[in-house]
Amino acid sequence: METGGKAESTARRPFDQGSAGLFIVLKLAKKEQESAPYSILAQIYDFVMDHVDYAAWAAYIARLLSHHQVTAQSLVDISCGTGSFCLSTALNKLQVYGCDGSSEMVRQAICKAAKKRRRSLFWCADMAAFASRRRFDCVVSLYDSMNYLLEESQWRQCLLRVEEALEPGGVFIFDVSTLRNSRDFFNRFVQKEQNQQVVYRRKSYFEERQKIQHNEFAITFRNNPQQIYHEHHRQRIRSLAEIEELIEETPFAILGQYNGFSLQAGSDQSERVHFVLQKPQERTVKTSTSRA
Ligand SMILES: C[S@@+](CC[C@H](N)C(=O)[O-])C[C@H]1O[C@@H](n2cnc3c(N)ncnc32)[C@H](O)[C@@H]1O
Repeated sequence: METGGKAESTARRPFDQGSAGLFIVLKLAKKEQESAPYSILAQIYDFVMDHVDYAAWAAYIARLLSHHQVTAQSLVDISCGTGSFCLSTALNKLQVYGCDGSSEMVRQAICKAAKKRRRSLFWCADMAAFASRRRFDCVVSLYDSMNYLLEESQWRQCLLRVEEALEPGGVFIFDVSTLRNSRDFFNRFVQKEQNQQVVYRRKSYFEERQKIQHNEFAITFRNNPQQIYHEHHRQRIRSLAEIEELIEETPFAILGQYNGFSLQAGSDQSERVHFVLQKPQERTVKTSTSRA
């Protein structure tokens, strides 16, 4: 999760003279737990992302749809997280659905929808194995969620599933975080933040050889300060050419790839690129003719 950075908000306090013994005892008493990505982070995800304007993101997606003259009545977000995008009022005119691979993130989305008195339309599913009986006009995957697909085979599966879930002429809009973003902004980056509920630290580094972006979270809730939860997130960062090659294997046409939240062409110099893919109106059926 290569979120935009927030300034370091906690100053390190030196320990009082003579408190070293106490410090060792406290340190020994700490309980450390390795947890699956988003299993604990889900509880504080909205705090971690409070700098993100989801309404503006929803407006941008609507702009991409109208730019490509796509009329959408239904949309599914296949990595919906805690549902902030889906629940944005900017999407009020659409039938919006959301699913995500993390049951804890989906639980947060369902709670949020209930608090907003919105019908809950969220479920748990892997992007690479997602299936739906109904068809949608638009499928989205946002905030570098596609970067979580580490293997090419997962990308192929995901593109296949999305294509199946779209109406003919429907579009798949997703964004990716770029190699430049990892190299320039998320290599050896440390962020610490806290509020009344939680203290968390995020350590980010980029493994150039494997092109893996690592984000390691250490999370402590104030009501249980001895417990530290660790989550290690791994994302594969691909060049735009690699992504285009994967798309070319599918029936999708690339309508555009855009720099950040603009309508300017994206490039490997962009930090984030939004892709807009369209399912053909009619499926091309390859037939073989045999001669007598
Ligand atoms: C950075 S968060 C973005 C969430 C949301 N799109 C947002 O903008 O807040 C990445 C999301 O991708 C989800 N995710 C990662 N791998 C996934 C997979 N294989 N299938 C479905 N969801 C996945 C995570 O559970 C997480 O909710």
